[in-house]
Amino acid sequence: MSRQPAALHGTSALEDLRGQASALDAADPLAAHRERFVLPDGVVYLDGNSLGALPAAVPEALADAAHRQWGQGLIGSWNEHGWWRAPLRVGDTIGHLLGAAPGQTVTGDSTSVHLFNSLTAAARLRPARRLLLTDPGHFPTDMYIADSVARLLDLEVLRVAVDDLPRCLAARGHEVAVAGYSPVDYRTGELHDMAAVTRAVQEAGALMLWDLCHAAGALPVRLDDLGVDLAVGCGYKFLSGGPGAPAFLYVARRHQDAFDQPLTGWNGHADPFALSGAYIPARGVERARIGTPPILSLLALEAALTAFEGVGMEQVRAKSLSLTGFFMDCADTLLDGLGFTVVTPRQAHRRGSQVALRHAEAYPLVRALAARGVIGDMRAPDLLRFGVNALYVSHHDVLTAVRQLREALIREEHRDPRHRQRAAVT
Ligand SMILES: Cc1ncc(COP(=O)(O)O)c(C=O)c1O
Repeated sequence: MSRQPAALHGTSALEDLRGQASALDAADPLAAHRERFVLPDGVVYLDGNSLGALPAAVPEALADAAHRQWGQGLIGSWNEHGWWRAPLRVGDTIGHLLGAAPGQTVTGDSTSVHLFNSLTAAARLRPARRLLLTDPGHFPTDMYIADSVARLLDLEVLRVAVDDLPRCLAARGHEVAVAGYSPVDYRTGELHDMAAVTRAVQEAGALMLWDLCHAAGALPVRLDDLGVDLAVGCGYKFLSGGPGAPAFLYVARRHQDAFDQPLTGWNGHADPFALSGAYIPARGVERARIGTPPILSLLALEAALTAFEGVGMEQVRAKSLSLTGFFMDCADTLLDGLGFTVVTPRQAHRRGSQVALRHAEAYPLVRALAARGVIGDMRAPDLLRFGVNALYVSHHDVLTAVRQLREALIREEHRDPRHRQRAAVT
């Protein structure tokens, strides 16, 4: 059954949105930062919450890493070009964006690996406590790894929604070793109150582990100020470090001496080149290293992070909120009556850096939209997600995206069989 599209009230509503987009973009202090990214002509890219766009500094850095550092420097580059220290150097650069003083963040490996290491180490820091808390709506890898850690250490996992945490902590807080949550719901974009959750968990005597995949590079997280215990996150979303970019792990300084991770690889040894048979962990966050890091990816990530130079996270946040707020205004006007529901909270302090729309035809609509040059993604079963990276997305991009979505739906392009066939990655 084809829908009757809601009529736009003359062209004035659209003209009004165009005028707003122009005014907001003209006043945008980050507008020029788009030049720091390479984006294909004619494409509106709203999937930086999944894979960030290519920062312009990366290809040259990769070419240098391959031709000069690896090609010419060969193995000497571990010393000459600072490869050995790269996990800590890049860690500090990311830490700066997260409100973490130097010496608490390390990069390398994947978010999943860091989750395993940090959840296990957290449980070992609270040996008398047998409960791990995690979110029933958490990204699957977080839930799978919590379950696996619990099986290994004979612990119990409780999946408790953020809103139910106070009740759970009141009843069983004394049993909780660690609570692992994400400040931003990866599907709806809802932002939780990191300060309140951290406080509640720590008041129960447990450790707070945040998964910052959807927060790092998107909003200020103030890890040191909030007294967070542990945090992990990926390098490939808002940090734009490239596909499979190394992830990061933050270990608050006060926990480092006792941080006992299960993957005791030689890079985390106090004296790796002594090649001793006994594992003695390095001092500081260096002990959170594991094996040989992916240097080419680390150098790509390091170059990507230069896109943040001279930019404050408060500035990023202000623009991100403007973009998501404008997206919802456009949706209210242009998608009215077309079967969409905005599921991202309207209140600014309750949303991250994406807008999610619910629609029964989410998948074919995302595909039809991509065919029109607007890239978002879909999360099963029925959410269309649109991430905004304040460094390269404009208000005009947002308006274009919503207009194209309206057109794709009205023209029933989502009914095209090509758009209904599921690809491996949605
Ligand atoms: C909250 C969260 N954690 C973890 C991951 C992925 O983990 P990994 O980088 O190990 O694939 C994602 C991926 O989207 C995520 O959204």
